[in-house]
Amino acid sequence: MKAKVSRKAHFNAAHRLFCPDWDQARNQEVFGKCSNPNFHGHNYELIVSVTGPIDPITGFVMDLKVLKDLIQTEVEDVLDHKNLNAEIPEFATLNPTAENIAVVIWNKLRPHLQSALELEVQLYETPRNYVTFNGL
Ligand code: NI
Repeated sequence: MKAKVSRKAHFNAAHRLFCPDWDQARNQEVFGKCSNPNFHGHNYELIVSVTGPIDPITGFVMDLKVLKDLIQTEVEDVLDHKNLNAEIPEFATLNPTAENIAVVIWNKLRPHLQSALELEVQLYETPRNYVTFNGL
């Protein structure tokens, strides 16, 4: 028997979306307000889900306290109140879109989980816009 367990988390961060090869007019056209050269913030809502077999002894797929602490140290402590472009090495040359942030978060968490567990990251950049990444 498998189940999916999830933990919600939250962080605030600033970013700017742009392609360095384009002028500001083109960046504005493609990325809109998210291309403001002076950066802007989002309230990111994160849902991390882990799917795997239910351990017959504990009844857990994974101890959610462990997952909570992992999200805290690997994601919230690293990204919260940061300028993603300027302060997070992964985004030095990678556009910090919700898609790419979800991939970076997935890559930070994956090494800490048992290989039998599947990992899915959902990242809400706004209450209505969200991205799902599961490693594929
Ligand atoms: Ni934005």
